Amino acid sequence: MSRSCIAGIGSYVPPRVVRNDELAQLMSTSDEWIRTRTGIGERRFADAGVYCSDLALEASRNALEDAGMTAHDLDFIIFATISPDHHFPGTGCFLQAKLGIESIGCLDVRNQCTGFLYGMAVGDAFIRSGMYRNILVVGAEVHSSALDFTDEGRDVAVLFGDGAAAVVMTPTQDPRRGILHSELHADGRFTKALFMSVWDISRKPFMTPEVFQTREIWPKMDGRSVSKNAVTKLGELVEDTLHAGGVDPLDVKYVIPHQANLRINELLAERLKFPPGKFLSNIEKYGNTTAASIPLLLDETYRTGKIERGDLLLLIAVGSGFTWASSLLRW
Ligand code: ACO
Repeated sequence: MSRSCIAGIGSYVPPRVVRNDELAQLMSTSDEWIRTRTGIGERRFADAGVYCSDLALEASRNALEDAGMTAHDLDFIIFATISPDHHFPGTGCFLQAKLGIESIGCLDVRNQCTGFLYGMAVGDAFIRSGMYRNILVVGAEVHSSALDFTDEGRDVAVLFGDGAAAVVMTPTQDPRRGILHSELHADGRFTKALFMSVWDISRKPFMTPEVFQTREIWPKMDGRSVSKNAVTKLGELVEDTLHAGGVDPLDVKYVIPHQANLRINELLAERLKFPPGKFLSNIEKYGNTTAASIPLLLDETYRTGKIERGDLLLLIAVGSGFTWASSLLRW
């Protein structure tokens, strides 16, 4: 049976840079507070009128170009986001139309910060089963429309940024390449530790003016609980994934972790005794771009020439749900 591999990768971030000092004009925060607690210096915000599928379109074009393909070569689209263009239909359908193609299947993955890795695992299974050949997996977010830029929302608002990244997955017979192992996990007992209650289908009607007055339209987070869970679950995940993939930690060239908080990733690297420089980061420039975070960092790493054919990479993420996931692959 053939493996699946990444045949092309691309990303796109909106041009507007929002530095910590700009946020400090809207709420009681500071560049110093944000940098020391999260590692974030700036992020990108999309302008009004820009959809998640618009960012995804640019990223997808870049990934297709890198793969030497056109959109007509695609057999399936998997779209990971928690900031869809609309509640329905799925954003994959909007992207498909913008790519100028029709008829191929589109699947939206609503799995928060692990959405991209869940999407890659689904794509990997489709390719290994022979069901599809060329699959576009996208992670994209426009968070900036759904953040509370007041003192009440400052704990969450300073963390997130907008962006998109995509990969084209294909089958490979090359023994030096491909996905070796994926892990997908969730623990639904913690659904409300990082949660947005605005869409509540048990309410009749589901949306009322009170939703705005009670500030339910904004995301809420128990930062300590998220942080503690992230370090514990990521530690177990790294060990389990390397064991299942039958590889030595020393053979991993880079760990590409989800960019939620620099402190979480530094603490994790220290606990796992990974040498400095093995855990990569770009959170300083983009903040947390949720489903886009891992492919955005992977694309930057690839485009700066740091990855060679056959390099062993470990992609790990933890997020709301709680969910946690990994992908161990040879580039
Ligand atoms: N600026 C200034 N002060 C702030 C801000 C802010 N943006 N946000 C909160 N504070 C205040 C709090 O109100 C609190 O004040 P108080 O002591 O007067 O009550 C004080 O700072 C300390 O707050 P803590 O929550 O204890 O700060 P902590 O050191 O835990 O850092 C943080 C907060 C950065 C959110 C941290 O909990 C964290 O990183 N948690 C993980 C969350 C995360 O990564 N979420 C990403 C999404 S999930 C994912 O991607 C995995």
